[in-house]
Amino acid sequence: MSQWPDTRLLDLFGIELPILQAPMAGSTGSAMAIAVSNAGGLGSLPCATLSLEQIRAELQAFREASNGPLNVNFFCHQPPEPDPARDAAWKLALKPYYEELGADFEAPTPVSNRAPFDDATCQLLEQFKPAVVSFHFGLPEASLLKRVKATGAKVLSSATTVDEALWLEDHGCDAIIAMGYEAGGHRGMFLSSDLNTQVGTLALVPQIVDAVNVPVIAAGGIGDHRGIVAALALGASAVQLGTAYLFCPEAKVSAAHRQALHSAKESDTAVTNLFTGRPARGIRTRIMRELGPMSDLAPRFPLAGGALMPLRAISEPKGNSDFSNLWSGQALRLGQALPAGELTRTLAENALAQLKR
Ligand SMILES: Cc1cc2nc3c(=O)[nH]c(=O)nc-3n(C[C@H](O)[C@H](O)[C@H](O)COP(=O)(O)O)c2cc1C
Repeated sequence: MSQWPDTRLLDLFGIELPILQAPMAGSTGSAMAIAVSNAGGLGSLPCATLSLEQIRAELQAFREASNGPLNVNFFCHQPPEPDPARDAAWKLALKPYYEELGADFEAPTPVSNRAPFDDATCQLLEQFKPAVVSFHFGLPEASLLKRVKATGAKVLSSATTVDEALWLEDHGCDAIIAMGYEAGGHRGMFLSSDLNTQVGTLALVPQIVDAVNVPVIAAGGIGDHRGIVAALALGASAVQLGTAYLFCPEAKVSAAHRQALHSAKESDTAVTNLFTGRPARGIRTRIMRELGPMSDLAPRFPLAGGALMPLRAISEPKGNSDFSNLWSGQALRLGQALPAGELTRTLAENALAQLKR
């Protein structure tokens, strides 16, 4: 018999530990997912920045190394309408940086590469049939969602308000990630765009638990076993940790990002739209300080990142993060540089020990 107080998600996903390693596009891949799933948690494979061939290779790598369940994660935003005037205004705001770094301002702006879930990725899921499929920014259109569910996958998405949780439940989610404002990376918000009304994890989780019938996964600011125990006490059936897994050797973060995670304070993160056009939490860098973390000029998601690419191409090889996104949640001081499997087991053991006290 399980020692955990709530086994709904353990049964739904076929996992031993109520711990999900957050999908983190660009920062984690199959190595992390394999380690977490083999330790008894739910490993995740973020696909938002991967090509179809890369997704296929990562799924195969997972299959070869783990019999455990896998969560495959996609963004499902609407690609933006072209807006050349906004793109030009944004690039103009960055012109002083192009001049400072010697980047070619007249060269065509590169296009940033976050693709939404579509027919081709759905076909891949139909072949691989992962146990869990999760989405960020709502859900894909009904016909695609129907095909995902027909594979037998359990479907998850993030809610940042009770209204979003109710919407996700109505549209067929098997469980809901309650994503508090402390969380690192992009806010999953999709019904509201008002950051001022976003809710912290402690307030959000029990209100979503009360509002929906499906199990709830708490996310945002959970950095160690104390956060896990607290989330379970609030009625969550499991937790999803992102920032905590960025400290693991399996995380694909730059040396500068890793260094910033180790040295930043809890008050060093902010929510910014400068890097992609959508609000996301990261450690403050020079451009966030100088342009303000939120800018009306930033083009719609994911286009804002394009004009920053030439600046990053020059600064990052020098170990400089002035123009880079260093995604992180607020609980970064709790991070421990353990291998992902060991971290998962340690978190679970310590949480169980505290639950039994
Ligand atoms: C580096 C980073 C990248 C992220 N990328 C994704 C992503 O691709 N898909 C997604 O659903 N969530 C993404 N998130 C959000 C996480 O799934 C999760 O909700 C969040 O990390 C939880 O908060 P925490 O960082 O405080 O643990 C990302 C978070 C971080 C820190």
